[in-house]
Amino acid sequence: MREADLSAVLGVQAACYPEAMQEPGAVVLARLRAAPATCVVACEAGGAVCGYLFAYPSVLGAVTDLGAAFAPAARADTLYLHDLAVAPRALGRGLARALAGHLLALGQAQGLAWSALVSVQDSAGFWEGLGYRAAPAADCAPGRGLASYPADALYMLRALA
Ligand SMILES: CC(C)(COP(=O)(O)OP(=O)(O)OC[C@H]1O[C@@H](n2cnc3c(N)ncnc32)[C@H](O)[C@@H]1OP(=O)(O)O)[C@@H](O)C(=O)NCCC(=O)NCCS
Repeated sequence: MREADLSAVLGVQAACYPEAMQEPGAVVLARLRAAPATCVVACEAGGAVCGYLFAYPSVLGAVTDLGAAFAPAARADTLYLHDLAVAPRALGRGLARALAGHLLALGQAQGLAWSALVSVQDSAGFWEGLGYRAAPAADCAPGRGLASYPADALYMLRALA
């Protein structure tokens, strides 16, 4: 992902999430700057961005609040996938699985032990297909962590090793 992709990435986000889950452009750009090696896009043949995945090195159990900045961990053990989305026009072509697979291979190569995420919008079945299972997230303050997401949000985990 490049900074020049921001507008297209926000367009995909707008097409994939309800208003209450839209994250501000400034936060999205700051995430790319904080973790450029683990933020990737999928492009159509003409080069148009049609999917993205934002991730960063984190620690087991930690959840990024909805709308919060990434805070890459100095002693990371977990590749945290924060947001995966594919534009409606490009669904069902294997792009989401390819984006996730690319970063899982990178996390493995970096020696991270785990990958974790928060599943939303009935996507748990997709993540189970990639080996993730529901797991307890770390405790955090009221309204933070999982509680910053819609009620169906689920912390999910898989081993990378
Ligand atoms: C979830 C999402 C990224 C999947 O994108 P996609 O392009 O359809 O995914 P792929 O084509 O790579 O699908 C890979 C497999 O997952 C399955 N799958 C896709 N979405 C699924 C879902 N919601 N539940 C269960 N399985 C799903 C596909 O059927 C396919 O399985 P198959 O290979 O056995 O046929 C897409 O629906 C999306 O962008 N949703 C809106 C944003 C969102 O909620 N993201 C999840 C954030 S946690």
